[in-house]
Amino acid sequence: MNPADTSDLWWRTAVIYCLDVETFQDSDGDGYGDFAGLARRIDDLDALGVTCIWLMPFQSTPDRDDGYDISDFYSVDPRLGDLGRVAETIRIAQDRGIRVVMDLVVNHTSDRHPWFRAARRSRDSPFRDYYVWRDRPPRKKQKLVFPGEETSVWELDERTGQYFQHSFYRHQPDLNLANPQVRAEIARIVGFWLKLGVDGFRVDAVPFLISGEGTPDAQDPHSFLRELRRFVGRREGSALLLGEVGLAHEQQVEYFGGDATQLDLQFDFVTAETVFLALARRDAEPLARALSARPEVDVRQGWAMFLRNHDELSLALLADEEREEVFEAFAPEEHQRVYGRGIVRRLAPMLGDDPRRLRLAYSLLFSLPGSPMLFYGEEIGMGELDGDIGRGAVRGPMQWDAGRHGGFTTAQRSRLNRPGPVEGYGPEHVNVHDQRRDPESLWSFISTLASRYRSTPEISWGRLRVLDGGDSRVLVHEAASEGSSFIGLHNFSPEPLTVILPDLSDGQSATVLIESRGSAPQGEHSEQRLDGYGFRWLRLSSSAA
Ligand code: GLC
Repeated sequence: MNPADTSDLWWRTAVIYCLDVETFQDSDGDGYGDFAGLARRIDDLDALGVTCIWLMPFQSTPDRDDGYDISDFYSVDPRLGDLGRVAETIRIAQDRGIRVVMDLVVNHTSDRHPWFRAARRSRDSPFRDYYVWRDRPPRKKQKLVFPGEETSVWELDERTGQYFQHSFYRHQPDLNLANPQVRAEIARIVGFWLKLGVDGFRVDAVPFLISGEGTPDAQDPHSFLRELRRFVGRREGSALLLGEVGLAHEQQVEYFGGDATQLDLQFDFVTAETVFLALARRDAEPLARALSARPEVDVRQGWAMFLRNHDELSLALLADEEREEVFEAFAPEEHQRVYGRGIVRRLAPMLGDDPRRLRLAYSLLFSLPGSPMLFYGEEIGMGELDGDIGRGAVRGPMQWDAGRHGGFTTAQRSRLNRPGPVEGYGPEHVNVHDQRRDPESLWSFISTLASRYRSTPEISWGRLRVLDGGDSRVLVHEAASEGSSFIGLHNFSPEPLTVILPDLSDGQSATVLIESRGSAPQGEHSEQRLDGYGFRWLRLSSSAA
């Protein structure tokens, strides 16, 4: 592909912002966020520097898995609005140059979905084969996604005497992608939302979608992703498929597919987990190792970088002892851990002992080659909710101002049956209104990062290389492209340090793009002094360029 021909690849330099309409902004005082409320907040996201909004599921749902249990793919949860409001919100965002992608949850439906209700009525139902049924569960034990909450991925349907497969909760029966009718249904769902104007999809639970029983094509499970990619390309050339593939890098390569034929972007789970290991050790070495081994992918594809998301901070890809280290450092209390593999906390309280460390983490997020993703509330350093409530702890209402309910809703407290944020992180301390007016706030810092990221295309397009700065506590990474390169320096330790950059060749100059507050003046550019948890972004360019 001609490298100049990248104009449609908007996702390679996107600043992605994930939000749940239900917890973002309530416009009518019923205690639920809604599309009308979100529409009013688009300007706030624009001001922050967001270029792509990812909407978590907003369709009709019994809401037993926060909307990831859909009972009608063509509808909108009536508490949140209707199709008209969705279309309007998309238009308002796109008018500001912000794209909108939505969750595509088609590994399973809710057990309330009319397909499943029909399917379980009798073995002869025309919808029976929409799901995966067996007379008895296969001998081979399948790994549980929610250990402690589920004991098997097979559930007996008493009435028809067969078991159905559910990779997640028992109320989320898996769709049978081996059935061509199901694949045609998925294509219609995708086609519908593209027509309504979305710019793409965050594809939920991709490995589950194409594996296990009910695989589209046992010989070639990835054929479904190729089919999906082709279909989306035909309907809307510039639409994005952003996949949730929580696997090791080598396995993720298969989900990109040769020659850019499958997913366009994938979340970089390995890097996210390793960042926390490096933070826990106050040493960049594990991260340097993981990044050096990250496979290069096609120029049309890339990595979505994140620190936290709406789920637990999964540490499933780390070794057991490494996971323990991260648990000990960042989730000392039992209720902060779930499923033996993850942490249900937000980032600010995790790193709360030192604000410098929080900024270091966000500087990394925006400078590691890829497309950075923020989970709503991260831009102001929101805390998790206080209590033993599992993944729900990180899904509290957005804090817009210091007023009642943080300006999220005017509803009575009784309608919001969740605990408040952990101490020190309530709306009176942490809110958008105050931080937007304070140039020293986290919001202001993150908006600066977003803007530097957007004006430094080398970060996304450049070739990632980890350099040896002579001290493992500092990550020195380069993203090199023709004519200029980006260099990021991040000190994971609390001690001030000096690292040595390779000497610049003749005629090259270094410009500081951003650095931690109060950085000491620099001497020779080959010698870089960093404060404890300090960071610096440099652009190296040949003077002629
Ligand atoms: C994905 C979502 C998670 C959800 C699950 C089942 O992993 O991120 O929140 O529970 O899929 O849909």
